[in-house]
Amino acid sequence: MSARILNGNEIRDQIRKEVAADMVELRGIGIRPGLAVILAGNNPASELYTRNKVKSCESLGIHSERLVLPETVSTEELLDRVAELNSRDEIDGILVQLPLPSQVDSKKVLLAVDPQKDVDGFHPMNIGNLVTQRPGLIPCTPAGILEILKRSNITIAGQRAVVVGRSDIVGKPVSLLLMHRNATVTVCHSRTKDLPAVCREGDILIACLGKTAMITGEYVKPGATVIDVGINQLKTRDEVERYFPGDAKRMQEFETKGSTLIGDVDPVTVRPIAGAITPVPGGVGPLTIAMLMANTVRAARLRHVQTQTPVEM
Ligand code: GUN
Repeated sequence: MSARILNGNEIRDQIRKEVAADMVELRGIGIRPGLAVILAGNNPASELYTRNKVKSCESLGIHSERLVLPETVSTEELLDRVAELNSRDEIDGILVQLPLPSQVDSKKVLLAVDPQKDVDGFHPMNIGNLVTQRPGLIPCTPAGILEILKRSNITIAGQRAVVVGRSDIVGKPVSLLLMHRNATVTVCHSRTKDLPAVCREGDILIACLGKTAMITGEYVKPGATVIDVGINQLKTRDEVERYFPGDAKRMQEFETKGSTLIGDVDPVTVRPIAGAITPVPGGVGPLTIAMLMANTVRAARLRHVQTQTPVEM
């Protein structure tokens, strides 16, 4: 038996349709949501991610701006740019792409974003709202993971969920979201003792540790749902053959581009054991941008429309 593949592209398309319907409704009352994306420095991955975020806005009719600042930018310059975006009425969402250059005080910059425009959900006020289950903006990747589970009819309540990785962006917030949906949640990290045994307790296993294919079959309970958040590159032919044996498409991609993507989960040993699994690419990744679009529309609604329905967190 091989795991059911949870197709992130299909779920992204469903969410984009819902966002498109929201856009029509907002247009009807004269509101056009707007997103500003700040990119500082020349990290190639960040360049690509921010371009894709802007492209996604354009295809939905969301106003978007991409602000590119040099690698040498100071904390003060970034604070000035954020302050300007906070004050502009046509901007509903502000996203500061991470990581920022090393000389920048990232925490100070994230704290400067107006919590109402914080479409990444990284501001301490939104984190606090998440912890205490108040309405607010939720980080995009964790929100996307919940959408995958919900829309794939994976039971969360009463299940054991194991999260491997404790980052502010994914591990911590996804743990809270799962806990609020009545999962029994364990958060693991680099100092967890006997990690494979702890992971094997998970009916739901969230791999967000950022280590190429580290989660192998011995970490997985038979039938578990495995969500692979990792985005890593394979750069040698040997690795591609090892992780994707007999996969002609993968090898072809590797030959053309010189690399191919893999997550934190080893497909060879995990797919025969898991009940369901998200692929890389095409699993969690597509949801992150879809949820950013949803958050931008939601931020516009919260700022411009008087009556709001609190959203469950
Ligand atoms: N870098 C990696 N993931 C993210 C994200 O979700 N938001 C931002 N702003 N930067 C990131």
